[in-house]
Amino acid sequence: MTTGNSPAEATDRAAGLDPATAEDPIFSPLEFRNLTVKNRVFRSNISGRFDNYDGSGSPVRINWELKFARGGVGTIISSFVPVVIEGRIVPNYATIDHDDRIRFWRELGERVHEHGCKFIMQLSHGGRQRDIVGFERPTSFGPTAQIERIHGLRANAMDSAHIKQTVRDFADGARRARAAGLDGVELHSANGYLFTQFLSSAINDREDEYGGSLENRARFILEVVRAIRTEVGDDFHLQAKISAVDHNNAVLPWEPRGNTINDSVQVCRWLEEAGVDAIHVSTGSMFPHPRNPAGFFPVDVAAQTYGAMISTARFGLRNYIVFRTPGLRRLFQWIWGRTTPDADHIEGLTLPDARRIKKAVSIPVICTGGFQTASVIRRAITEGDCDGVSMARTLVANNDLVNLFAGGHDQAPRPCTYCNRCLIHTLQNPLGCYEEKRFDSREEMVEQVLSVYRPSWPPEAEAERGEAAPATV
Ligand SMILES: Cc1cc2nc3c(=O)[nH]c(=O)nc-3n(C[C@H](O)[C@H](O)[C@H](O)COP(=O)(O)O)c2cc1C
Ligand code: SF4
Repeated sequence: MTTGNSPAEATDRAAGLDPATAEDPIFSPLEFRNLTVKNRVFRSNISGRFDNYDGSGSPVRINWELKFARGGVGTIISSFVPVVIEGRIVPNYATIDHDDRIRFWRELGERVHEHGCKFIMQLSHGGRQRDIVGFERPTSFGPTAQIERIHGLRANAMDSAHIKQTVRDFADGARRARAAGLDGVELHSANGYLFTQFLSSAINDREDEYGGSLENRARFILEVVRAIRTEVGDDFHLQAKISAVDHNNAVLPWEPRGNTINDSVQVCRWLEEAGVDAIHVSTGSMFPHPRNPAGFFPVDVAAQTYGAMISTARFGLRNYIVFRTPGLRRLFQWIWGRTTPDADHIEGLTLPDARRIKKAVSIPVICTGGFQTASVIRRAITEGDCDGVSMARTLVANNDLVNLFAGGHDQAPRPCTYCNRCLIHTLQNPLGCYEEKRFDSREEMVEQVLSVYRPSWPPEAEAERGEAAPATV
């Protein structure tokens, strides 16, 4: 916990801001065109493999989301929700690929709403970027048949009928999210997934009307936005998460750089014109990327979990050997570390991009990347860099961080160290914080990870409602 004497807090006091008062910009409601949220902190998209193989949701996901709703965030933005099985990146993520899924998401939304928290679903399709393919869909489809350069993920190029069907799949996903009573949808148009593959000049090599100029590369996402508006109307919240800068050559310097901030500013203007209500600013043309989630790359954990990718990717075995061989590990960490900021410069690393986008559009802008200090967030909002921030790892480390801010704390007693162990574990192990030094003992850490499997609601309350915890919803 900080003492109230940090330079950032001193700046706050000089600006007349008292963290403990209702004047705190973090706790002022944010009004979108179709949605008002109680504060400026969004739980950013983050999820583990909590659900069933077939894409049906499980109570474990509900437990997971409730941790953050209880912890005080104004809005939860879901993790990657595939709009179609072909678009999933790993099995065991709850999907929104047909109407039978609505019931689960309604249950989840209602539980989250009980805490005064809104819930936005991230509509997603991985395209060629997947981690573990399911047995029934071994082939990936995206805008290009070019192999992905890091893992060697194979893909086939979509033809125009396939693109049109995918536009439809997104519109159906939005309709189902609305039918489930959720508060809005977000397009996962960041971090290397299907939309990025269309948008990025470094990836999209099409020669038809979906490739070439920026206007052509943006055609797919704009068609999706228009199809969603036709399907759900104008009065349902729709936002887009975008990678403001591709930094596509961050790991392999000989690769093209990809989209610049100027490209993304133009795309955001078009998105606003087409009916998007907010922009969520991220970075990087792939996931993970040295700048997202920025921080250390735990090669020791990758050596344990990456085996799951050997059969998926052409370079899977090569990468696995790199992670297992001491000299090559160090080389990889050096390459990764060249473009990831050090831990002191991770918080707010995408704010300059958010500021550029905010100046160009009139819809609210949310920024993601390392936020976990109240005074930093407050300043980002008051200085007009963004209207709100989203947090992923930092809330995994401290689920109740927003409640701590409300209590006048500037930081949690044990902040997230950006070690990225949560990220690399998640292919094979339950999602949670795996930074042992944040806990008094290993047992305490394990208990925290496994807590998501315990019933989250008091059994008495369940009994009052006449319900039993379902095995699947
Ligand atoms: C384990 C893990 C899973 C993530 N899953 C998603 C996802 O499904 N969709 C998405 O847009 N971003 C995802 N992200 C990125 C986060 O939403 C967030 O933008 C990024 O981690 C930076 O924020 P942070 O520094 O607060 O973690 C994930 C990040 C982590 C660590
Ligand atoms: S494992 Fe814990 S400390 Fe490390 S990045 Fe994830 S949440 Fe933060």
